[in-house]
Amino acid sequence: MAGAEGKAVFWLGKDTLRVSAALFTENRRRLCEALRAKNSLQPKSVVLLQGGEQKQRYCTDTDVLFRQESYFHWAFGVTEADCYGAIDVDSGRSVLFVPKLPESYATWMGKIHPPEHFKEKYGVDEVHYACDIADVLTNMKPSVLLTLRGLNTDSGSITREASFEGISSFQVDNLLLHPVMVECRLTKTDMELEVLRYTNRISSDAHKEIMKHVRPGHKEYEMESLFQHYCYSRGGMRHTSYTCICGSGNNSSVLHYGHAGSPNDKTIQDGDMCLFDMGGEYYCYSSDITCSFPANGKFTPDQRGVYEAVLKSSRAVLAAIKPGVKWTDMHRLADRVHLEELVKIGILQGSVDDMLKVHLGAVFMPHGLGHLLGIDVHDVGGYPEGIERVDEPGLKSLRMGRVVQERMVLTVEPGIYFIDHLLDQALASPQQCAFINNDVLARFRNFGGVRIEDDIAVTADGVELLTCVPRTVEEIEAFMADRSDKSFSQKF
Ligand code: GLY
Ligand code: MN
Ligand code: MN
Repeated sequence: MAGAEGKAVFWLGKDTLRVSAALFTENRRRLCEALRAKNSLQPKSVVLLQGGEQKQRYCTDTDVLFRQESYFHWAFGVTEADCYGAIDVDSGRSVLFVPKLPESYATWMGKIHPPEHFKEKYGVDEVHYACDIADVLTNMKPSVLLTLRGLNTDSGSITREASFEGISSFQVDNLLLHPVMVECRLTKTDMELEVLRYTNRISSDAHKEIMKHVRPGHKEYEMESLFQHYCYSRGGMRHTSYTCICGSGNNSSVLHYGHAGSPNDKTIQDGDMCLFDMGGEYYCYSSDITCSFPANGKFTPDQRGVYEAVLKSSRAVLAAIKPGVKWTDMHRLADRVHLEELVKIGILQGSVDDMLKVHLGAVFMPHGLGHLLGIDVHDVGGYPEGIERVDEPGLKSLRMGRVVQERMVLTVEPGIYFIDHLLDQALASPQQCAFINNDVLARFRNFGGVRIEDDIAVTADGVELLTCVPRTVEEIEAFMADRSDKSFSQKF
């Protein structure tokens, strides 16, 4: 059992969260238990995982800031690069392999810690040098090494399977482990939920900080910078979970704005809607939150109309989620509410049932309703074998096709966007154009979009809302009007 149980394996001082090594001991225990339930498991199987490697920027000697590989993090919680981990499935015994560092490391990088340091820190049963891995594994006399090979259903990429010099003299099975580990990562333990509550609390507060600070005339990247500064200085979050999306005006309709080609570099204008999608990451656990609000703090009637349409679908979905519901049905529910509200605004006309038949919802929300969240922002497990994507506009972008289960952590992120090329396609479609009132729609060209993204944990009979930011129009306007608080940004 873990020697470091009860003691923080990760803590960045001040008010940051203390995470116990017991979180990873429990994850390894769950993994062994799940593997032992498999008929195809041979006695004396040993799981072998390879951690992330330290990379350099292209051909240079400049290190890229390291972030641990997600499966390895889930099982060991090790922050260092270039490690391996083994777990004897029968006994649960854990072995960590750390790199044997050259003497020059002590000059350039700092103290070289002995293996005992890592044993104590990470609460594993044994620590060896990675260069000795073949000998140590031979001594464990495994019948088979279980390595991790499988598809990430969001990226389409295959996991990198553990490999070392001498592995060819072992029996290797790379099929059994991946689906089992994915199922373990799908539902979160109490200790994992505690970390996800923390990432949400800090990131929610960072979003609130921005709502207090934003003004027409600011650059979008100043808001990105403020978010990162808040999350890191207050929450110890060195990484964000993904590239910050800080769209204002029409940029708020660009779903993944903020990339290198559009680096949040527009000046925010009076009258703009802002759509800021940002989440901090703590000890490799994510958050993913979107706040949409007017830059000047006061909604126009059209901004209020679209915002409240999205809020209505968000709240309808949050009220409907519980174990047993189909995630695809939640997406369809959001679509239906959006279409009903767009009729009330006057942009659409006719029967909502008929609109759904021609997939009109996807013109305004081309992405999926939400996704699993955990160590990865788009966490694994959305499409296990046997569950296929629904091949319909909108639904085909849904990152999870499963039935909702207790202890899943999910984002709920409905949105309505006015994306010119999708609107033009719809107007050119004989099936769709009859529902569109183009005179009213014209007013919303250049509006941008609204997304409301909350993170939730599924409970026995509903949801626990992890995100805590002003959400109604009244809450947002009151919050942004009261700029008397001495805000964090003003203190720096
Ligand atoms: N931030 C990307 C997403 O919402 O999924
Ligand atoms: Mn997001
Ligand atoms: Mn998301």
